[in-house]
Amino acid sequence: MVKVKTKLVSWDEVVEWCRLLALKVEEDSWRPDLVVAVARGGYVPARLICDFLDIHDLVSLQILHWGKAAEITAEAHVKYPYTLNLSGKKILLVDDIIDTGDSVIIAKKFITENWKPAELKVAAMQWISPVAKIKPDYFVEDVKDWIWYQYPWTRAEDTTNFFEKILDEKAKEGKNEWSLEELIGEFKAWYGIDVGEKYYSLALKRLLDSGLLTEAGENIYRYMKEKRVSK
Ligand code: ADE
Repeated sequence: MVKVKTKLVSWDEVVEWCRLLALKVEEDSWRPDLVVAVARGGYVPARLICDFLDIHDLVSLQILHWGKAAEITAEAHVKYPYTLNLSGKKILLVDDIIDTGDSVIIAKKFITENWKPAELKVAAMQWISPVAKIKPDYFVEDVKDWIWYQYPWTRAEDTTNFFEKILDEKAKEGKNEWSLEELIGEFKAWYGIDVGEKYYSLALKRLLDSGLLTEAGENIYRYMKEKRVSK
């Protein structure tokens, strides 16, 4: 039974979505002078869009969220609020996905007020229209049913967070000892995707390093709930 609807996104899909996004910008007869990536999710799409549109000016603005994969909370702010003079420039603001829209709303407000561009448009590969508070000017997929997009650039982070979620939920039922195979089995059942052995091993190592798991025998790991800090 899948608990969180998740789509495993491939690199090829990302390239194709960005090609299509760039095409939409071109078909609109609108040419940005500069691309701004919403960091960190927008980095890879922004870079690909620069390539497809042959744009050489790329900067980023980091928006910080409190919360973890698939449980993003409302608080968001600009992490490094630096100054640029973009008067007279046309900006394309790029993010991977517009979910609640908070990141893009905050980035757009900050840029408009502080960098003062002539124009600003927004592009994202995915737009979750039923929950988003903002509609991007350019998007590829209008996502009608909320889903977690497991992009290649958050694979290690998401796998670790998803493992942690499983451990935490199962601890409530009294299960605190796990083999890696059991954990992988739950991961596949909960999320309906398989990220591959290398990511499972990496996530296991991170949980061991953080002290959330400890070795309790050969291929037996104990969940140390008290080590969990809510981020
Ligand atoms: N970041 C915020 N919402 C997301 C989603 N639904 N999928 C992937 N990354 C996200």
